[in-house]
Amino acid sequence: MRILGIETSCDETAAAVIETDKNSDRVRLISNIISSSLPLHSKTGGIIPEVAAREQIKYIIPVIEKAIKNIPLTQIDKIAVTIGPGLIGSLLVGVETAKTLSFVLNKPLIPVNHLFGHIYANWVGLKEEINFPAIALVVSGGHTDLVLMESHGKIKWLGGTRDDAAGEAFDKIGRLLNLSYPAGSLIEKLAKDGNPNAYNLPRPMIDSNDFDFSFSGLKTAILREVNTIKKLDNKKISDLCASSQQAILEVLIKKTLFAVKRFNPKSLLLGGGVAANQRLRDTLAISLINNNLSLKLLIPEKILCTDNAAMIATAAYFNSADLPWKKVNANPELYFD
Ligand code: KG4
Ligand code: ZN
Repeated sequence: MRILGIETSCDETAAAVIETDKNSDRVRLISNIISSSLPLHSKTGGIIPEVAAREQIKYIIPVIEKAIKNIPLTQIDKIAVTIGPGLIGSLLVGVETAKTLSFVLNKPLIPVNHLFGHIYANWVGLKEEINFPAIALVVSGGHTDLVLMESHGKIKWLGGTRDDAAGEAFDKIGRLLNLSYPAGSLIEKLAKDGNPNAYNLPRPMIDSNDFDFSFSGLKTAILREVNTIKKLDNKKISDLCASSQQAILEVLIKKTLFAVKRFNPKSLLLGGGVAANQRLRDTLAISLINNNLSLKLLIPEKILCTDNAAMIATAAYFNSADLPWKKVNANPELYFD
C-alpha cells in the first residue's frame, strides 16, 4: 500500500510517500520532501501565523509534486493529512489540499493527529517490531507530553507541560541570549563549549511525582541571570546554554524514567523536534542503563524528529480510519484524548 502524507501544521510544508507490504508492519520511505519557512521567521524572532500560512500556500503544490515525482498519483492508495494541533491558517492549506486530492482522485482520506505523528516517526524505516506497552515522550516546540501506548492508536495521556513546552523553553531562552529563532539546535551547539554547572538553575517540578512539566520558571531564571551580567560575552552565552540545556534535559529524563518505572513498558519512544538533541538522546540511553531498565529505546533519525510528512503517513497506516473528505476538518486545538 502506498500512502501520500501531507503536513502543514506550522512552518514546514511537507509531503511524503510511504510504502508498506501486506505481510509485515515495515514502512519504507519512498520520498520525504520538507520545505521550511523558518528563515523568514528567524528575522522576526518567532512565527507570525499569517506569514506562515502564506508560505504554506506558496509551497504546498511544489512540495507534493516533488514527493510524487516517481510515483504517479494513480498509484497512491490513500492520502493522509495533519488536521491538528497547529496554526489554523497553516493547517487549512494542507487539509483543503488533501480534501481536493481525495475528491478528484477518489482516494480514501485519513485525518492524523500531529502528536501521534511524532510518535509514529519511530516506525519509519524500522526493520524490527516495536513491542507494547510503550511509553512515549513527545517533546516539540508546542508540546511536552508523556503518554502510555497500549497498542496502535490506544494512547493514554499521562501528563504534560503546564506552561511552556521544552522546545519553546529552548526558543525563549535563545531569544534572551540574542540567538536566532528557533534556538534549540544552536543552544545544543553552543552548550558544547559551556559548563553545565556554571549557573544554578531551577529544575521545575522535577520531584513532583507526577508526569507534568513546567518550564516557564526556567526562562525567568535565565532572564534574571542575563540582567545581572554586565557583558554577555561568548563564554557566558555558552555557559548559559549548557546550564539551561542541562536543566531542561534533567527534568525530561527524570520524568520519563518515573513513567518507565511506574508502567514497566517494553519500549520507550521519543519524538518531536527536541528529540533531535544529541545530548538528550545519549543521556537518556545512559540513564536507562544506569537504572537497570532494560527496555528498548527508540528515537527517530534526526530529520524525522522535526516536522515531516513521513510520520503523518505512517501514523495513518497504523490507525487507518479514513473519512469522507466532507467530514475532514482542521482542528487547531486537537490533543491526546
Ligand atoms: O517538532 P517540531 O519540528 O515542531 C513542533 O511540532 O513544534 O519542533 C521544533 C522545536 C523547536 O522549539 C526547536 O527549538 C526544537 O524543536 N529543537 C531542538 C533541537 N532541534 C530542534 N531543541 C533542542 N535541541 C535540538 N537539537
Ligand atoms: Zn511537530
